[in-house]
Amino acid sequence: MPTPKKVFIVVGARPNYMKAAPLYEEFKNYPHIDASIIHTGQHYDAAMNKVFFDDLGLPKPDIYLGVGSGTHAQQTGTIMFKFEKILLEQRPDLVIVVGDVNSTIACALDASKLHIPVAHVEAGLRSFDRTMPEEINRLLTDQISDFLFTTCKEADTNLKNEGIPPEKIHFVGNVMIDSLMKFIERAKQTEILDQLGLRSQGITTPYALLTLHRPSNVDDKQTLEGILTALNLVSKRIPILFPIHPRTLKQIKEFALEDLIWHIDDPRGVLLDFSLQKVITLPPLGYLDFLNLMSHAGLVLTDSGGIQEETTILGIPCITIRQNTERPITITEGTNFLVGSDPQKIMSQAYTILDGGGKKGRLPKLWDGKAAERIVKVLVEM
Ligand code: UD1
Repeated sequence: MPTPKKVFIVVGARPNYMKAAPLYEEFKNYPHIDASIIHTGQHYDAAMNKVFFDDLGLPKPDIYLGVGSGTHAQQTGTIMFKFEKILLEQRPDLVIVVGDVNSTIACALDASKLHIPVAHVEAGLRSFDRTMPEEINRLLTDQISDFLFTTCKEADTNLKNEGIPPEKIHFVGNVMIDSLMKFIERAKQTEILDQLGLRSQGITTPYALLTLHRPSNVDDKQTLEGILTALNLVSKRIPILFPIHPRTLKQIKEFALEDLIWHIDDPRGVLLDFSLQKVITLPPLGYLDFLNLMSHAGLVLTDSGGIQEETTILGIPCITIRQNTERPITITEGTNFLVGSDPQKIMSQAYTILDGGGKKGRLPKLWDGKAAERIVKVLVEM
């Protein structure tokens, strides 16, 4: 491939922005390359979207497709239909997709059919669980990508096992950690701890931080009820703050489980009442506020992919409420424990950590803040 002149960087959903930002920034070092941000609009709420652009210093997207929510087929199909038109009009030399959301596969597929080279950042991660929509997105995107940028050696092995030619695979490290390293000091300056009454006179109240949005955890009433009940018991030991994804709040309301949470629409100026011993749900937070809360937490509980990696770098114990993870390095080298959604196992691991049984972990290779530099170098020098 000759050096690309016109590059599209695709984002669609919340976990994409912190991966795209360092790439966009790095392309600025190559003034002869015109890099644009294309936003599919898979996530559209300001709290899932605009605040991240502001926090990460990303410009307004050059193109916004505005696809919104829908079934998987509706969402993926609408993105494909709209993105194809843009590709035909603008003919970029390269399309970069990140992560594993529906926008990732939809845009990769469009570009690949039009013979536009595709680079997949965060390739090769596998949970080996094909009931996860993201696993399907990962497998298919990797099959049709021309450049596969990986975060760890396990991912290289997965790709080789699936028949991807080794010359397409580039082990470059983790772009999301580029963002974390760039923004952590700024994040620690935000007011969120004071706003939530978690810090007074320089002393921080110990707390745990929770995120939960995977269909496997929140789409089944019994599972969701079990997890929240277990966590309310844990919150007798440590307050649990839960910036809640819109789909999870919707499910809690639909299943009539509101009694299991204390929901605060606007946390500013609200004095948190920890004596309620209920999980405290807040609106989704921006990148910097969330990073700040994560870096001061005693414990993080999550079903997110990226948070397993971020807690590893921050050295914060993490409990992953899933049966499997596509990021096993966060367990073998990081601070992560995989417990599934069984209430007893969640409680028992949480108590073990609160009793001092966490692990310190170490930084995985090449998670050093320079992944975007390596990626763009490969793309420019090809
Ligand atoms: C998507 C990704 C998931 C990622 C997550 C991060 C896929 C298949 N899944 O899941 O991998 O971890 O983003 O958040 O791409 N909604 C809103 N406002 C929004 C966006 C969503 O209210 O801005 C609600 C809607 O009810 C929507 C639901 O959330 O139907 C699900 O959104 P969707 O984009 O389909 O998937 P996520 O669950 O966010």
